[in-house]
Amino acid sequence: MSQSVTVDVTVGGRSYPVVVGHGVVERLGSLLPATARRVAVVSQAGIPLTVDPGVESVVVHIGHGEEYKSLATVEMLCDRFAEMRLTRHDAVVAVGGGMVTDVAGFAASSWHRGVPVLHVATTLLGMVDAAIGGKTGVNLRAGKNLVGAFWQPHAVICDLDALATLPERELRCGMGEMAKYHFLTGDNLLAMEWPERIGRCVQIKADVVAADEREDPTNRRGRAILNYGHTLAHALEIATGHDLAHGEAVAVGLVYAARVADALERIDSARVAAHDEVVRSYGLRAALPAGLDPDVLIELMARDKKVVDAGLTFVLDGPDGVETVPGVSESIARAALAAMPR
Ligand code: GLY
Repeated sequence: MSQSVTVDVTVGGRSYPVVVGHGVVERLGSLLPATARRVAVVSQAGIPLTVDPGVESVVVHIGHGEEYKSLATVEMLCDRFAEMRLTRHDAVVAVGGGMVTDVAGFAASSWHRGVPVLHVATTLLGMVDAAIGGKTGVNLRAGKNLVGAFWQPHAVICDLDALATLPERELRCGMGEMAKYHFLTGDNLLAMEWPERIGRCVQIKADVVAADEREDPTNRRGRAILNYGHTLAHALEIATGHDLAHGEAVAVGLVYAARVADALERIDSARVAAHDEVVRSYGLRAALPAGLDPDVLIELMARDKKVVDAGLTFVLDGPDGVETVPGVSESIARAALAAMPR
């Protein structure tokens, strides 16, 4: 087997391994809890990775598309867990991108009040972000990811073979989150080879999650910093009807956050220019897509928060690094939009 990297994520007094490398999916059986006699494999049609847990297993497919990231899908999964008599000694294995690991992780967190889940991430975004850190959940009509749980996985497998067939656009999505990690740490991830690059992203996220697993809303430098670039990104995803995929939108959001920080005199123009340069070096577009109404973007950004504060809340760079900044005025947000590269 070729070279692999294992990162231990320590959170809430326990550790789990994230194994990164080519062919590492073969290790799935050895990573299951020793008590597991049955495994529910949750995946989607077309996922280019098959798994062999080495014990009795049932494969359950969920649909493609945000509409399947729902409580109805969780109910369907739990019905299947009941049919196969999945117990708390057993395990759920989620094989797919962020949607699969979010939904399967939430079903696992609820079934019998919590059964172990192992994530086999098959997208770059899943490997560097979604599968790590224990956030699980589904959407409601009222918004994305509104129902969920913190449920840390038992282990995570990032098999780089899955990336060989990943569409270019999906790769870019992962690169958007990588550019975010670049700003959080100053690490040039592009200078590293795979799998070290993915291992380093996992370590960066693991360190943030270890310090603030549940995203304490009073902790300005806690887990919320992982949302750097995400306030405008979420608005762009909605305003473009998902023409801009998540990581592509995060890239634009990072460039925008730099302009908000500049308008608040938290960073200088050289640091703003560095944001544009870094985002482009990760193969991403920095420009704001044409034809979007600033009023709509401001309205969407004002809605994008789980804590009620006056003004808009952003995660911004500054003299002490990246942190949450509440109470940003609409006029600053508007001026920063006007200053975006086109
Ligand atoms: N994706 C952000 C987080 O896991 O907190």
